[in-house]
Amino acid sequence: MSKQKTWSDRFESALHPAIAIFNASIGFDIELIEYDLTGSIAHAKMLAKTKIITDEEGKQLVVGLEQIRQEYQQGNFNPGVEAEDVHFAVEKRLIEIVGDAGKKLHTARSRNDQVGTDIRLYLRAEIREIQQYLRQFQASLLNHSEQHVETLIPGYTHLQRAQPISLAHHLLAYFQMTQRDWERLEDVFKRTNISPLGCGALAGTTFPIDRHYTAELLGFERVYENSLDGVSDRDFAIEFLCAASLIMVHLSRLSEEMILWASQEFSFITLKDTCATGSSIMPQKKNPDIPELVRGKTGRVFGHLQALLVIMKGLPLAYNKDLQEDKEGVFDGVKTVKACLEAMTILLNEGIEFKTPRLAEAVAEDFSNATDVADYLASKDVPFREAYNLVGKVVKTSIAAGKLLKDLTLEEWQQLHPAFEADIYEAIAPKQVVSARNSYGGTGLVQVRQAIDRAKSLLNN
Ligand code: ARG
Repeated sequence: MSKQKTWSDRFESALHPAIAIFNASIGFDIELIEYDLTGSIAHAKMLAKTKIITDEEGKQLVVGLEQIRQEYQQGNFNPGVEAEDVHFAVEKRLIEIVGDAGKKLHTARSRNDQVGTDIRLYLRAEIREIQQYLRQFQASLLNHSEQHVETLIPGYTHLQRAQPISLAHHLLAYFQMTQRDWERLEDVFKRTNISPLGCGALAGTTFPIDRHYTAELLGFERVYENSLDGVSDRDFAIEFLCAASLIMVHLSRLSEEMILWASQEFSFITLKDTCATGSSIMPQKKNPDIPELVRGKTGRVFGHLQALLVIMKGLPLAYNKDLQEDKEGVFDGVKTVKACLEAMTILLNEGIEFKTPRLAEAVAEDFSNATDVADYLASKDVPFREAYNLVGKVVKTSIAAGKLLKDLTLEEWQQLHPAFEADIYEAIAPKQVVSARNSYGGTGLVQVRQAIDRAKSLLNN
């Protein structure tokens, strides 16, 4: 049996093969390779600038690292489990390419500050991408909103019909939620954009490095002030997963509504064929798989947040191998959020149609204008609580008589209270009921049009 390679000369025997696999992160941290190369190039340039290595060596390192980037992009760099992780894989290949100079790359650096740098560079880029996806999703919401200012839909509390609202107003609620999501990511970006490079294994380094130079080359806003903190902080990743979870909460709530709306019971939307699926056994069915999957995938993102919180809570300073477990959850969180935002944007753009005749029917067939009768009396100086009780009685007797409020005759109204006049009918018509809620941020159509204008200028900036 040929002697297997030991971890280093300090070791006498090689890792047990199963343990080598257990220990390795190359299977997933290869995702970081572009950032690992970029980070290493900055480090190499810094080593040359500070004369820790020669200019010539610095150049060789940069050329070698760029060559690895090309090899990877062309599909010719596929390190296996023997490399352990992406950092070792790159270093090993670099030494093959440039020889002895390659052995100098890791001077004044540890994999601890290296991996911290990589994951921040990765997350920074992904945050920007997710913000773009959010913008596209918001644009689709806005587009529907512009078309549906005057389309009325029942508004609910406790999933009981409450007051009719503009469909645009309903959709713009999601615009606002995702606007906060966008802003939250902006905030997470700030705390992701801090360089741990040069913190070394935990305590800094004996070499005269220039941390501000590498930070500048990599576009970091500032550097970690404390090396122990720099190599072991994962707050930014937790914050990201929290922001990602909230995006999923918002998408999941909209998904739930779409699923309800597509049901025969609601029948508020039709799912178009490009975004619906059938049943393998029931030929009549058209299923809302997209929103169901989004609702379902929400759980895994929450799970990643919970997992990372638990990973961190008992860790003594500074780096511990537990931190290798930070990556898969973050990667999956990023992919899931992007996939769900994309799917929901497509669903909004081309997968649904609002059934406007059915919506018009829905807002006219219930007692969701009862508040407006009470408001009508209150505006004629009847104390609101008194008016409220009176209307409650009217609703009760109307239900018993199989009537809606609009079916009461003027005499019937006036018997209830002399303040009622012929304009009561207009006051309780759905369009008027909606238009009248003209307080700032309300569903009044004037308000909704203004909200659309503000949303538009926000997207255009
Ligand atoms: N693969 C490791 C990780 O993902 C890199 C850092 C290893 N550091 C160490 N001291 N073993 O965290």
